[in-house]
Amino acid sequence: MKLEEYLDKWIKGESEEVTWYLAAAVVAEERGLIEVAQALKTIAMEEAMHGARALIQAGKIPDLRKFIEVRIEAEKKAAEERHEEAKHHDEPWKTLFEYTARDEERHAKMLDRILKRIQ
Ligand SMILES: [Fe+2]
Ligand SMILES: [Fe+2]
Repeated sequence: MKLEEYLDKWIKGESEEVTWYLAAAVVAEERGLIEVAQALKTIAMEEAMHGARALIQAGKIPDLRKFIEVRIEAEKKAAEERHEEAKHHDEPWKTLFEYTARDEERHAKMLDRILKRIQ
């Protein structure tokens, strides 16, 4: 397999693992298994770092400023889509769509603020 092909598969795999480990961590927390939840979160962060290291080594973030600019728009778009989706679903999905949409808006604002600190 070509490196570029494997890289894409690798990043997707690591990203998916992060989500699943964090989901399991939330389940563990809800059951009061705090130590288990913490271990699952640690693994999730390490999986995320595997993907992050691979992206950096592949030179995928040559310009931090540009990256943040692109992410601001992506976060705003995600928020819009999530708000739109919320209109078409009943509870409990509606609340989850709205709640995550507000997080995406907050991410865009945070990125906007840190962009001002980068020259
Ligand atoms: Fe990994
Ligand atoms: Fe986000």
